This record gives sequence, structure tokens and C-alpha cells, in this order.
Amino acid sequence: MEIKIIMLLILICIIGISGCADQENDSVSEGNEDGIDSQVPIPDAGAIFSIFTINDSYNDWSIWPGQVSHAQGSGVHGDYITIYVSDDALSLAESGGQVMPYETMVVKEGFNSDRELIGVYLMYKAEGFDPDHNDWFWASYSPDGDVQAEGKVPGCINCHERRKNIDYIFSNV
Ligand code: HEC
Repeated sequence: MEIKIIMLLILICIIGISGCADQENDSVSEGNEDGIDSQVPIPDAGAIFSIFTINDSYNDWSIWPGQVSHAQGSGVHGDYITIYVSDDALSLAESGGQVMPYETMVVKEGFNSDRELIGVYLMYKAEGFDPDHNDWFWASYSPDGDVQAEGKVPGCINCHERRKNIDYIFSNV
């Protein structure tokens, strides 16, 4: 019995020490470029899905100004598409060609030729996340919210880069 308690105490000490070591590493890296990067909170695609489907459902947002529900898409994200923009960016989206504010979310639904939902795509502007590409965080989901890609996704960025002059948003014309 006593041995078990001693073992437990040793374990607690080890966890305590490694916890301190982690903290030291963080503070050591402060000030250099890596340190600054690591302090930017990385958005979590799974958590964001819950936010924009439950807390503040994107179906209640406006469809991108000038567009309609189930519009014919280019085929990249489905035969038919619907693009929604969060309320904070709506007025800028109306004027066109604008750089969106931080926290903006643009959500696109992709449908197949039978108009069944096949994917959900997100652009979320997160301050400091990717300054080289206007700080967009990218994510794609299955219809029920499984994350298929997230972050600085090269495929998304490379194609959307064609619209770099209008904040990477094809619809922003
Ligand atoms: C091969 C090019 C291409 C790739 C790759 C691509 N997109 Fe798109 N995306 C488009 C086009 C074109 C549109 C405009 C709507 C349409 O025609 O489908 C668009 C529209 C969007 C929109 C609505 C806002 C806008 O730009 O109009 C979102 C959100 C989006 N894409 C997210 C993504 C994500 C996330 C990825 C990566 C997982 C991605 N896209 C990959 C071409 C691409």
C-alpha cells in the first residue's frame, strides 16, 4: 500500500516537472518568429462547425449579395452551390471587392446534380493565422460535419489565389 502511495507521489512530481518544462519552452520561444507564430490560436474546424450550425446557424445568414440559393456552380464544389456570409461582413460583401474584417465567415454548400448536399466549405478570417494569405483559415466538411481538410490548405489557397486582389473570394465582385 505504502509503495503505491510513493509511486503515485513520484508520478505527480514527474507530471508537475514536465508541465513546468513545457511552460519554459513556450517562454523561451517567445520573441523569435516561431514563438510568435505559436501564440496565434489555431482555429479548430470541428468546433467552428458546431458554432456555425448550432450557435449561429449559417442558414440564418444572408446569401452572398446578388446570389441565389442552389446557383449553378463551377463544379469545383458541386453542381449547385449556395454561399452564405456572416452578418459582420454583409455590408462589405454588398459593396464588392472588399477586404473582409476579422471573424468573417463565408460558408459554401455544395450539392450534386440531384441537389443533395455533398460538402460544406468554410473560409474564416482569423487574425494572425496566415498573414501571407490574408489570414484565411480554410476547412472542408462532409455534410454531417466530418472535417476533411483544415488550416492553411494548399489546394484551397492555390486556386483561390487567382482572386487575391478581391480577398481570395470568387464571389466578391
Ligand atoms: C480548383 C479551384 C478551387 C479549389 C481547389 C477550391 N475552390 Fe473554393 N471556390 C472556387 C470557385 C470557382 C468558387 C466560386 C463558386 C463556384 O463557382 O463554385 C469557390 C468558392 C468558394 C467559397 C465561397 C466564397 C467564394 O470564394 O466565392 C468558399 C467558402 C470556398 N470556395 C472554400 C474552399 C475551400 C475550403 C477549399 C479547399 C478545401 C476550396 N474552396 C478549394 C474554386 C476553388
